[in-house]
Amino acid sequence: MLAAESSNLWYRRHMDPSAITPNRLFSDLAYLWPVMSPPQEYAEEAQCWRTLLRERFSPGRPRVLELGVGGGHNLSHLTNDVEATAVDISAEMLRHSVALNPGVEHIVGDMRRVRLGRNFQAVLIHDAISCMTTPRDLAAVFATAAAHLKSGGLLLTSPDYFAESLALPRTECHTYTRGDIELTYVEYTYDPDPSDTMIDIVFTFFIRSAGSLQIEHDRLQAGVFPRSTWRKLMYSAGFEYSERTFHLQHWEYPYTILVGVFR
Ligand SMILES: C[S@@+](CC[C@H](N)C(=O)[O-])C[C@H]1O[C@@H](n2cnc3c(N)ncnc32)[C@H](O)[C@@H]1O
Repeated sequence: MLAAESSNLWYRRHMDPSAITPNRLFSDLAYLWPVMSPPQEYAEEAQCWRTLLRERFSPGRPRVLELGVGGGHNLSHLTNDVEATAVDISAEMLRHSVALNPGVEHIVGDMRRVRLGRNFQAVLIHDAISCMTTPRDLAAVFATAAAHLKSGGLLLTSPDYFAESLALPRTECHTYTRGDIELTYVEYTYDPDPSDTMIDIVFTFFIRSAGSLQIEHDRLQAGVFPRSTWRKLMYSAGFEYSERTFHLQHWEYPYTILVGVFR
């Protein structure tokens, strides 16, 4: 093969984002999650969740189900306030939460389909709700929440994006050190097809450890919906819908938690 031909092939293979293996952050690269998103950074955000839980359940310690718990970083700030069961589709991510939140029951499952056959007083879905990329998936998750609540039960969820306020493309770059890993990552969020409800987040990770540099890529998809979709789908699943907005010190945008009360 000629040199020019081979370099063309290299470009076609490496410049096409669909060639990047997706969801590695929640599988073989899950070990990076506590490095790039340290649990202590969730303290201020978790305070908003604590406020909403206390408003409804104080002075009790409600039984809550968290769907898509990930590393359990947000949950780690709430375990004194709640008795928690946590579900995630990724066994690798769940392992972090098991280590961080030893008093919590952990179950591998898909938030669109899991049925535990028992009720909770609240269902929490932190940023993992943004992994739902279509209205159909969102509706399935709200049906899961409804299946685990009795009348008056609470659903709290905090989407990363709302269609009305998302400005793309967006690029971020951060460096973190934990133990012997120094991680720098570039996160590029863009919308390959504005006619659908999905956006792509492309990561390049520069992982320095034991004197060597490893470079890895990942691609996650996330869902973006207008407020009218959130309201409509939550209402159809049986929830009275409202929103609570908080202003966090280190956040560019107001932090919104969607609140559903099961009818
Ligand atoms: C950004 S992480 C959540 C991080 C978490 N909020 C924390 O505090 O560590 C998103 C999580 O959603 C999980 N997830 C994605 N799709 C899911 C599904 N269908 N069912 C359950 N979990 C899912 C992923 O495996 C991942 O652990």
